[in-house]
Amino acid sequence: MARLLIEGRYPLQGRLEASGAKNAALPIIAACLLTREQVVLDRVPTIADVWVMADILREMGVQVEFNGNGTMVLDASDLATTTPPEDLVRRMNASFDVAGPLLAHHGEAQVSLPGGCKLGPRPVNLHLDAFRRLGAQVTSEHGFVKAKASRLRGAHILFPKVTVGATKNAMMAATLAEGVTVLENCAQEPEIVDLANFLVKMGARIEGQGSPKIRIEGVQELHGARHAIISDRIEGGTYLLAAAVTQGDITLEEFEPWLVESLLENLTKAGQKVTVLGNTIRVRGTHPIRPLEIATAPFPGFPTDLHPPIVAMLALADGTSVLQETIFEGRFMYAMEMVRLGADLRVSDRNVVIRGVPRLTAAPVDAPDIRAGGALVLAGLAAEGETVISGVEYIDRGYQNLEDRLRHLGARVRRVEEPLKQIVG
Ligand code: EPZ
Repeated sequence: MARLLIEGRYPLQGRLEASGAKNAALPIIAACLLTREQVVLDRVPTIADVWVMADILREMGVQVEFNGNGTMVLDASDLATTTPPEDLVRRMNASFDVAGPLLAHHGEAQVSLPGGCKLGPRPVNLHLDAFRRLGAQVTSEHGFVKAKASRLRGAHILFPKVTVGATKNAMMAATLAEGVTVLENCAQEPEIVDLANFLVKMGARIEGQGSPKIRIEGVQELHGARHAIISDRIEGGTYLLAAAVTQGDITLEEFEPWLVESLLENLTKAGQKVTVLGNTIRVRGTHPIRPLEIATAPFPGFPTDLHPPIVAMLALADGTSVLQETIFEGRFMYAMEMVRLGADLRVSDRNVVIRGVPRLTAAPVDAPDIRAGGALVLAGLAAEGETVISGVEYIDRGYQNLEDRLRHLGARVRRVEEPLKQIVG
């Protein structure tokens, strides 16, 4: 098992280009199932979740090629099955993104309930309700969802809560339905907008993406398209926070500032120097870090995926902060690990109270999920001594070339494959 070794307390400095977003790339890759023509995607991040999605599609008969430099070519004209491989589907939540396209284009989908980061319950009931509203027969038994419809019919769907996953699947399914679909109380995340923009390039008729109400006029068929994936706001946000925790100076390039407005507001409130110029954002880390009160919320609110990373910064603040998690009740697994690094965190119910400490100290820690991994890397960059992070397979799911990018900014970080005893002994 790989581990990351980070020698902390080196200020990170330099410029970095944003990567393509994992959470936009995954549904857009799955959307190739909506057409028999070739799809070409640029700026696809080189991360483990993309390899898993590629393998799911390959096992279903899709031709998938990577042409270097982040370009991916997909051709689903010879699809062999509407049942994606269960073992791979269970490896990440976004694998369920294949369900809507399979149902809409091939009339059926038989998909295992997905797995993924353990952030509390992650049901797919709202995806299934949307498929039913679009006229599909849907059952969920023995760990598999089976959905069938000769052709979906447009419908009015009001989501009872904001959900990224169900908004994506309903939107993709409705592109080929007969008639008009109106989705209300939709997720407004930039990744939904990017998916919608890609579907429009394929010939879909979609309006309202990025607002709570999306209107989709179904078409008979979709064609191939080429699309560059939007920037990864969670990865980018994590690097901006790295400037704050290391008192560094990082400029993120090719990165649209509207993607991280709520983060930039909070960084500014925390006393960090934020400069936005066109599509570049510069953060100069400044101490003392002022404490904050934050509640996570669907976009444009503060993203739940930056909850653990911003706690790494607040662990070093001059005062007490409170963060309320409103999306995933089980997202606090990182807290115990961060306490091992000297942070003073108290979790109760959906809140974490963070009493700032003057310094963190290195320790062996284990990343329990992707963003917890990002947070532990940040804490390790700030801690005195050498932090050893295991659970690197989670970090590899969401952060492209993490060590190379950190080293480029001046971090002392390396990856080792040996057992822990040999590293610390
Ligand atoms: C997406 O997850 C992201 N994943 C997550 O990022 C992100 O944390 C989350 O949205 C919220 O922004 C991808 O895009 C691949 P939801 P998703 O549907 O789609 C409940 C990362 O680290 N719900 O918006 O699973 C659900 O339990 C990942 O990159 C239902 O009750 O999130 C949660 O409480 C982790 N029934 C809330 O809605 C459903 O059918 C929001 O979930 C669906 C969801």
